[in-house]
Amino acid sequence: MGQKVRAVIAKAKGEPVSLEVIEVPDPGPGEVLVEIQACGVCHTDLHYREGAISDEFPFLLGHEAAGIVESIGEEVSNVAPGDFVVLNWRAVCGECRSCKRGRPWYCFATRNASQKMTWEGVKLSPALGIGAFAEKTLIAAGQATKVDPAASPAAAGLIGCGVMAGLGAAMNTGRVSRGDSVAVFGCGGVGNAAIAGSKLAGAHKIIGVDIDAKKLDLAREFGATHTVDSSQENPVNVIRSLTNGNGVDVAIEAVGRPETYEQAFYARDHAGTVVLVGVPNPEMQIDLPLLEIFGRGGSLKSSWYGDCLPERDFPMLIDLYLQGRLDLDRFVSETIGLTEIEEAFHRMERGEVIRSVVLL
Ligand code: APR
Ligand code: ZN
Ligand code: ZN
Repeated sequence: MGQKVRAVIAKAKGEPVSLEVIEVPDPGPGEVLVEIQACGVCHTDLHYREGAISDEFPFLLGHEAAGIVESIGEEVSNVAPGDFVVLNWRAVCGECRSCKRGRPWYCFATRNASQKMTWEGVKLSPALGIGAFAEKTLIAAGQATKVDPAASPAAAGLIGCGVMAGLGAAMNTGRVSRGDSVAVFGCGGVGNAAIAGSKLAGAHKIIGVDIDAKKLDLAREFGATHTVDSSQENPVNVIRSLTNGNGVDVAIEAVGRPETYEQAFYARDHAGTVVLVGVPNPEMQIDLPLLEIFGRGGSLKSSWYGDCLPERDFPMLIDLYLQGRLDLDRFVSETIGLTEIEEAFHRMERGEVIRSVVLL
C-alpha cells in the first residue's frame, strides 16, 4: 500500500537537491497524511543539504508548511480528513521531565511519524521530522495543528518555523509587553517577525538594526518605529540615545553572531532581557566581562522555536492574521514551484528574499 508522490530530496552533502518520486506509507497509529499546499524555504533546509545538521542523507527537505489532512491513522483525535493544518516540529510528548514540570515548550521528546518515507527503498530523513517539499508527507498527529481555513496556505505555513521563532522570541521568550522598548538585531524573516510580535504585544519603541538598508525598509513596514544601519552607525550608541541613555527593555538577537549578541547585550537597559534567537555556528565564541553580566542584572535567554506551543499559538496567530493585525503575507517574497528550490537557496544566501514559498 502507500502512495508514490513527487518530493525534493538532498542525496549527498553539498549536492544540488533533486525532484524525485518517493513512497509515502499510509498513516499508522498516531500518524497523519497531509496533502501539502505550500512550504517555505528556510536556512535550515540549506543547512541539511550542506551536511551541517547531520549526515543522515538522503534528506527529505521542507518544513514550513500548510496543507489539508488527507487521512489519519488509529488513535488520532486532534485532526480529521479535510482539516486545514499548519505543520510543526514541536509535537510535545507530555511525558518527559519538561512536560511533567509544566514547561512543554522545552519538550525533550517531541513526536515524529514512526513509519519512514522511502526513495528507491532507502529510508528518508525528513527535515525537522517533517519533510514537506512533497506533494504529501507523513507526520505524527501532534505535528499537525488545525487553523482557520480562510488563511492563505503560503502565509499560514510560515507560522510553522521562522516566523513563529521571531514572533515567539518577542512574545513568549522576551515577554515583551505594553510600554516596553525593544531592539531587534537582524531584520530578516526571523527579526521582522520579532518586530511584528513586539508591535502586537504593545511595545512603544521598536528599533530595528541591520547592515542592509532594504531590510530596514521592511522593518519599518512590520512596525519598527526607528531603524539603525549598523554598517554606518554604532547601534549601541544610537539605541541609548533613543532611550534617554538607558537602553531597551528587551534586546533580541536574530542573526546568530557574536558581534550582534554583544551589541544586544550592551544595548539593553539595567535588568533588561536579551533573547538569542539567531543560531550561531559551532566555532563562534564570545568574551564578556563577568562583572557586566552580574552588574546589569536581568536575564540572558535563548529562544528555541520561539518557545511556542503550536496548539496554543498557531490558531491565535492565524486569527490575528485574518483580522488584519499580523501581516503574514508580507513575509512571502515570492512563490515558486518544486523544481526551483536551488535558485531559492541562492536568493536566500544573497539576502534578496524574506521567504520563497513553494506552492504545490
Ligand atoms: N549586523 C546586523 N544585521 C546583520 C548582520 C550584522 N553583523 N549580519 C547579517 N545581518 C542581517 C542580514 O542583513 C539579514 O537581514 O541579519 C538578517 C538575517 O536574516 P535572514 O538571512 O533572512 O535569516 P532569518 O531567516 O531571519 O534567520 C535569522 O535566526 O533562526 C535563526 O537560523 C536562523 O540564525 C538565523 C537567524
Ligand atoms: Zn515532553
Ligand atoms: Zn525553518
